[in-house]
Amino acid sequence: MNIRALAAKAVFDVLERGISLSVALPEQQHKLASGKDKALLAELCYGVMRFLPQLDKQISDCLSKPLKGKQRIVHQLLLVGCYQLFFTRIPPHAAISETAEACRQLKFEGLVKVVNGVLRTIQRNQQPLAEDNEVLRYNTPAWIIKALQSAYPQQWQEVIQQSHERPPMWLRNNRLSQSRDAYLAQLAALDISASAGNSPDAILLDSPKDVAILPGFFDGAASVQDGAAQWAATLLAPQNGELILDACAAPGGKSCHILEQAPNAQLVAVDFDAKRLTRVQENLDRLKLTAQVIHGDAANIDTWWQGGQFDRILLDAPCSATGVIRRHPDIKWLRKQKDIQELAELQCQMLDHCWQWLKPGGTLVYATCSIMPAENSDQIRAFLARTADATLEPLPQAKEGETGWQILPGQHQMDGFYYALLHKAG
Ligand SMILES: C[S@@+](CC[C@H](N)C(=O)[O-])C[C@H]1O[C@@H](n2cnc3c(N)ncnc32)[C@H](O)[C@@H]1O
Repeated sequence: MNIRALAAKAVFDVLERGISLSVALPEQQHKLASGKDKALLAELCYGVMRFLPQLDKQISDCLSKPLKGKQRIVHQLLLVGCYQLFFTRIPPHAAISETAEACRQLKFEGLVKVVNGVLRTIQRNQQPLAEDNEVLRYNTPAWIIKALQSAYPQQWQEVIQQSHERPPMWLRNNRLSQSRDAYLAQLAALDISASAGNSPDAILLDSPKDVAILPGFFDGAASVQDGAAQWAATLLAPQNGELILDACAAPGGKSCHILEQAPNAQLVAVDFDAKRLTRVQENLDRLKLTAQVIHGDAANIDTWWQGGQFDRILLDAPCSATGVIRRHPDIKWLRKQKDIQELAELQCQMLDHCWQWLKPGGTLVYATCSIMPAENSDQIRAFLARTADATLEPLPQAKEGETGWQILPGQHQMDGFYYALLHKAG
């Protein structure tokens, strides 16, 4: 099957059906055999998501009337074609003919001429990508730009720019297998350049690698996890023998890290999403770790837990994921402004409920991969104001006077993330 046709299908699923690219892309990648083709397909889809407004403008300027209804997929195909002309080294004649062929494969024979014509015009005119308003200049929806301008008056442009960079690949050394230094030495022996990150198990690769070439990967020597996400277990500071709840555990990256740090802790890993929960068990199995994996609601613990209160709780709450746009550029188009308030309300309920299940003297780490204050510092300030037995522990990494620790995308090469470390009076 033609790679451009598959790319158009995946982009259609995201933009017209609201499906996440991390689901839509693998569905199309399955249809390709070679790793190189799969990588090109990913590049085309990610690229369209990153530069959607500018690509859209180029195409709309060349179409005499918009493609609507069933023909919408041909519009998505044109986005894929246009991305190739501006952002790849694929020779323009090959990009155009492959894209026209894709149109045929998508069974829109009657529009092949239109696809050819539009892409040829774009190539001939050499019009630079438009920047006449902020949405076009930053390839970001207006409501996100506004929210970032208000939250980060000095840094919003940097935040947006970083959200369009290609993210680095981070590893988490499994300290139960070997020390980080030993793993760095094993990587160096294979000529894989890497350096230690700013949390105890983190390793930053100089360039992304296929996990299959990483020493001992399939035996659990290391895992792929962003540097920011690796702070969760370290801030939680789990101890052997403790009863610990990972309230939103799937796919299980942080659960596994907690157990690598405290293998004799009794970990309860819960998630609302049964399908995602299977990934938790797979990750535990690969790393030979044991937890109680439960399908349940973190805002209704009584319905699935008969035991006592927890010594420590990690609440890695569902959030807007605006801190990880560099990894998931489709978030810009899937997330809507009203989602922020709805998510903040859900997070507030989960926080209040989990707090009741924390032992006096216990620790709760609240985490999101969001950069919206409503989900982070505002959320925690409101929680502290209504919760008499909660105090916020200072985090040395945070800015002076900050409520919690807001990591912005790209800071120390990490994803955007938020942490608050809360202590319950004993
Ligand atoms: C940010 S992700 C968690 C990532 C995970 N901690 C990790 O490191 O791999 C948020 C998770 O919350 C789950 N979730 C959403 N609502 C929930 C609820 N009411 N109870 C439990 N889990 C929920 C989602 O299914 C999703 O897997």
